[in-house]
Amino acid sequence: MLSKKLQEEINKQIAFEIYSALTYKAMQAYFEDEDLPGFSNWMDVQFQEEMFHANKFFRHVCEHGGRAALLPIEGARNEYSSPLEAFQVTLTHEQEVTARIGKLMDLAREEGDHAAQIMLQWFITEQVEEEATAGLIIRKLQRVEGDGRGLLMIDQELAQRVFAPPAGA
Ligand code: FEO
Repeated sequence: MLSKKLQEEINKQIAFEIYSALTYKAMQAYFEDEDLPGFSNWMDVQFQEEMFHANKFFRHVCEHGGRAALLPIEGARNEYSSPLEAFQVTLTHEQEVTARIGKLMDLAREEGDHAAQIMLQWFITEQVEEEATAGLIIRKLQRVEGDGRGLLMIDQELAQRVFAPPAGA
């Protein structure tokens, strides 16, 4: 049975994951406007992943005797000065998600909630990948800065990304 405190904190995280989804959807709009369809595709997949994360937390609350709630969600930032800036914001955002998941895990441990710990372990692993991927794209963008052909090559690479719901998640 989920404690009231953990339920409250997971409900906040549901809102934050949806905020993440909106952030990446807004970045997709920016990349559409920049005529970079591969970057746009990457952000669309990121949007879908974040909605998957929100739903995973939502399901956890519902399936462990809690009451899921949709809390108010902030509007997303729509303007970026460059693809590099958008990915720097992505990395900073993901670092914040990692910190939030860490706090949720600390709370689940304090409360001895084993089911929540197993669920959160999946997110801890996921965040390692999220930060690593954003960091890699930042380094690629820094390498090609000012080189239009290099940017288009990265765009083609990011066009390959597809959303696949993680197995066993
Ligand atoms: Fe749901 Fe990108 O963390």
